[in-house]
Amino acid sequence: MLFESMPVIAGEEVEHALRFCAEQVIGNLPDFTYKFQNAYSENGFYQPIENGDWTTGFWTGEIWLAYEYMKEAGEAAADQLKEAGEIQIDSFLHRIDNKIEVDHHDMGFLYSPSCVAGYKLIGSMKGKEAAIKAADQLITRFHPVGEFIQAWGPMDAPENYRLIIDCLLNLPLLYWASEETGDGKYREIAEKHIHTAVKNVIREDYSTWHTFFFNMETGEPDHGATCQGYRDGSAWARGQAWGIYGCALAYKYTGRAEYIDNFKHVTQYFLEHLPKDMVPFWDLEFTDGDDQPRDSSSASIAACGMLEMIKYMEPEDAAVYKKYAMQLIKSVYDNYAVKDRKESNGLVLHSTYSNHSPYNTCNHYGVDECNSWGDYFYMEALTRLHKDWVLYW
Ligand code: GLY
Repeated sequence: MLFESMPVIAGEEVEHALRFCAEQVIGNLPDFTYKFQNAYSENGFYQPIENGDWTTGFWTGEIWLAYEYMKEAGEAAADQLKEAGEIQIDSFLHRIDNKIEVDHHDMGFLYSPSCVAGYKLIGSMKGKEAAIKAADQLITRFHPVGEFIQAWGPMDAPENYRLIIDCLLNLPLLYWASEETGDGKYREIAEKHIHTAVKNVIREDYSTWHTFFFNMETGEPDHGATCQGYRDGSAWARGQAWGIYGCALAYKYTGRAEYIDNFKHVTQYFLEHLPKDMVPFWDLEFTDGDDQPRDSSSASIAACGMLEMIKYMEPEDAAVYKKYAMQLIKSVYDNYAVKDRKESNGLVLHSTYSNHSPYNTCNHYGVDECNSWGDYFYMEALTRLHKDWVLYW
């Protein structure tokens, strides 16, 4: 086993870390109940924004995770968190009703940890309505030719005719919508997309493409390309982590054994390319000694994927991946997590949204900062270690 002697997080440390997160969320409510956290912090501090980015669901997800924790602890703050979560759901319903910045594939990132969570936890009917509308919006991006959900941009342009690995996390919304409505169309689209994505984004060595293009006329696979990674052919750390969690969710929803195999291989590649403290640099091309920023969010995303996958594995395999997940979160907790509110109003430092490189076609922002998904998935991983957690995904 790799990283055999790295310590794991457990017991009181999980409890301590999760309590700090919940209290940090509560401390943020005055600024972030009618507003949302920006995607990334600036010098460690998030600024408030309107509900318009692809990332705002993570902040609401943190509110719900804090709510679960405080409710279980029997603390009055649970009521305050519930109220804030409901106010945010109103905003998500308004957003989908008015089609504010929803013309992309990130409906799952937006509506699962906010509205599906609110429906599951407190029976919010507005949450249910908003999330089903978001699922309807998401399926408008499905291409029957090529059988995938297009990530970004107008639908009829060859330069946009691609999927991205991140989208695997948007699909649970579709499974949930089929369960709730009894209409199988959402599930059918999710299954087609998963199949197309997994077949094409995973390379022979089990590193992954961030994005993959198809021929618009025939639907045939064309070529892979990075957007947020260092270069075409390298493995963008977060893309690989989305692949780990994405394969676990693909198995959860389809029960197809091939996705367990994919999970194992993609995870192995990730682990083999980690530096000594197990928290990746922003691209797996880099390692100890490279003067490059980390992406701590990838460690937490990968840990969540492992903690999901172990539910469906034989005990021997499950023990291996549980240990990796606990090691990853121990390192995030020891070396990257915020410990003092004066230092940051976020939860985890040293993440990278999008770094500049000679090949990266995305913008340069949120480098070596907190980001809202890094915070959310750290808290999700801690919650998964704390109790038998019912997924928002
Ligand atoms: N889904 C976009 C990102 O991971 O930055």
